[in-house]
Amino acid sequence: GIPDFVKIVEVGPRDGLQNEKSIVPTDVKVEFIKLLVSSGLSVVEATSFVSPKWVPQLADAKDVLSAIQDVEGVSFPVLTPNFKGLELAVAAGAKEVAVFPAASESFSKANLNSGIEDNLARCRDIVSASRSHSIPVRGYISCVVGCPFEGYVAPAKVAYVAKALYEMGCSEISLGDTIGVGTPGTVVPMLEAVLDVVPVDKLAVHFHDTYGQALSNTLISLQMGISAVDSSVSGIGGCPYAKGATGNLATEDLVYMLDGIGVKTNVELGKLMQAGDFICKHLGRASNSRAATALSKV
Ligand code: HMG
Ligand code: MG
Repeated sequence: GIPDFVKIVEVGPRDGLQNEKSIVPTDVKVEFIKLLVSSGLSVVEATSFVSPKWVPQLADAKDVLSAIQDVEGVSFPVLTPNFKGLELAVAAGAKEVAVFPAASESFSKANLNSGIEDNLARCRDIVSASRSHSIPVRGYISCVVGCPFEGYVAPAKVAYVAKALYEMGCSEISLGDTIGVGTPGTVVPMLEAVLDVVPVDKLAVHFHDTYGQALSNTLISLQMGISAVDSSVSGIGGCPYAKGATGNLATEDLVYMLDGIGVKTNVELGKLMQAGDFICKHLGRASNSRAATALSKV
């Protein structure tokens, strides 16, 4: 059945902003993160230590992470695709990092300039180096139901990568529908395959909402026992490698649903909406959260 408590991993400052063309000033990012924290979120993915040529928006990763060092009681994981990223992240004060292999070979090459196996080897190095710093490593898997280049992705491919991440010692494995094409019809068989090789309490789900399926896919995942969900406030974000792909499940919509079914999150919807308002105003964009849009009118 559905868990009593769901841990929300807010990815707005990273996944939500990484594809924004106009550079958001560092102080706006920092204020955004602080507003998210004040809503009660316990995990806010803050930025990425990736190549600034690949993701110019997050070139200020060091400054963002340094500016939130004094914020207590919250984890601020950051993406680290390689050893260089890990070293820079640790130097900037990271206490939790994330690697992000893909389940599809073409996406792996487009996103990381390396194939699945090479990338898994890199992930293994990152996990073992992180152990000496006592830094937990989250493992994302991209393209768990569909790939912008290859189309449908078989559950066995996802289970293969999930097992590898679990065995190398990732603290949590987040299953990403990068382009938001999944429905419960494809998500359930994928989860069944992964649940055969990874314990349910090590899994998280990460749905983009391109086809309006993110909330349904999340609910079905909760019904299968998963209790960690990634989302971005106001559904901000997009994927550079998939035409028209939109942001993540909106955190406000997730909290509204979980409040409705009596699942605890410790997140206050009103305060979350303030963080959403803040970043949407800055980006000059309307919210993608249906709940926030409706609630702001009542
Ligand atoms: P590469 O070009 O093969 O890297 O990129 P390289 O090792 O050949 O280095 C090239 C240059 O980049 C060098 O600089 C390096 O120093 C520099 P130069 O000598 O030319 O001046 N460099 C770095 N600089 C800063 N930080 C680093 C770093 N590494 C190299 N860490 C690389 C390989 C992995 C770096 C590149 O492909 C990359 O940065 N990719 C990241 C792409 C990305 O961030 N994608 C979005 C996140 S994933 C996602 O959104 C999906 C997810 O949300 C789940 C889902 O939705 O399913 C997680
Ligand atoms: Mg994503």
